[in-house]
Amino acid sequence: MKLDTLPSLYAAEIHELLGAERLLATAFEKLAVAASHVELCQALVSHAAESTRHAERLASILDESENPPRRRPTSPGAAGLLAEADARIHAAGDAHVRDLAIVGVARRAMHYEIVSYLTVIAWARALGRNEDILLLEATLDEERQSDDWLSRIALAALHAEARVT
Ligand SMILES: [Fe+2]
Repeated sequence: MKLDTLPSLYAAEIHELLGAERLLATAFEKLAVAASHVELCQALVSHAAESTRHAERLASILDESENPPRRRPTSPGAAGLLAEADARIHAAGDAHVRDLAIVGVARRAMHYEIVSYLTVIAWARALGRNEDILLLEATLDEERQSDDWLSRIALAALHAEARVT
């Protein structure tokens, strides 16, 4: 598909972000199963549910766009992050180290999403898509809150680790 206008670029980016959210919803569920720290586990389960909601918002934006891509949404970027996450988690031999690795890969995925949302929000502004902006900003806020929460859990876990080593 040729992208020669901002609306077509915007629709392609929203479509790819939809692919990322769907992949990440499943990935966060898997990470929650692999995590030992109770709060980390809860944060991942709740972000998996949020990701499903984020995907629904993106799908509703695509429904309203003039020329949405027809193919199944995919995200090579998110798929790459997940392959990296898988390798890291399987390499971690200790539950505490695995938790720290999980926080690292989950935060990397969230920052990928945060930058993607900042980009599409800027384009939605340029296109005057005010309803889209509200939906995208609601998601961006949730991504930031989850990232913040995960960074606090990681910090607490690191402090606990420092006390026992
Ligand atoms: Fe998300």
